[in-house]
Amino acid sequence: MNFREISEKRRAINFFDPQQDVSEQLLTEVIELAAKTPSSFNLQPWNLMVLRDQKKKEKLKTLAWDQPKVIEAPVVLIFLADKNGWQEGHATVEKNWQEMVKAGSMQPEQRQWFLDAAQSLYNWSPEANLAFAAKNTGFFAMSLMYAATSLGLETHPMDGFDHEGVRKEFDIPDNFWIPLLLAVGYKKPGLEMHPAKWRKTTDEIIVSFDR
Ligand SMILES: Cc1cc2nc3c(=O)[nH]c(=O)nc-3n(C[C@H](O)[C@H](O)[C@H](O)COP(=O)(O)O)c2cc1C
Repeated sequence: MNFREISEKRRAINFFDPQQDVSEQLLTEVIELAAKTPSSFNLQPWNLMVLRDQKKKEKLKTLAWDQPKVIEAPVVLIFLADKNGWQEGHATVEKNWQEMVKAGSMQPEQRQWFLDAAQSLYNWSPEANLAFAAKNTGFFAMSLMYAATSLGLETHPMDGFDHEGVRKEFDIPDNFWIPLLLAVGYKKPGLEMHPAKWRKTTDEIIVSFDR
């Protein structure tokens, strides 16, 4: 499938086939493809919780507007956006630094510059922490949806859930914002799809603020 085919095929699927599982191998392939997503300074401030257990999915469903897809889909992903993913000492930040030095894209003496740059871009307000985490994790989520489509899977993103309720139920630490849940699986057999939904035109998307 080329990109046009993938983007035209992907739809938010409301009803999944509970009988058709998603293998670990296929899920790993989806995640590995999505992991190619670009991010600020390559900091990759995202994590995933993978829910397959029916009891856990039942708990999540009650916190997610009782949306049936949460239990019908064999896999539900909780996306986590790490608001601290720019900080000195954070495991990914340190790994990223070492990788950049190893690759020669940064010199050891540039470390303070790098840390100061991350600090000034992503830590000038609590909103900046959140924006950093949420925008990068949003890109990752979109890549993951397209990756899943390209491998024959269906997905459904959800932000209709009780954010703090999910945090509490699943012991998610405070440094994470939860931008979305994602149901992953296969379409319920016989499901009739509505026509694709409308989208803004290019003219509606492009704006200018010329005086
Ligand atoms: C971040 C995000 C959150 C969403 N949350 C929900 C949700 O909680 N429940 C739901 O039924 N649809 C949800 N949707 C699905 C959208 O309504 C759907 O993607 C949109 O109407 C376009 O339809 P399409 O994805 O089939 O093209 C969400 C989509 C996104 C991207």
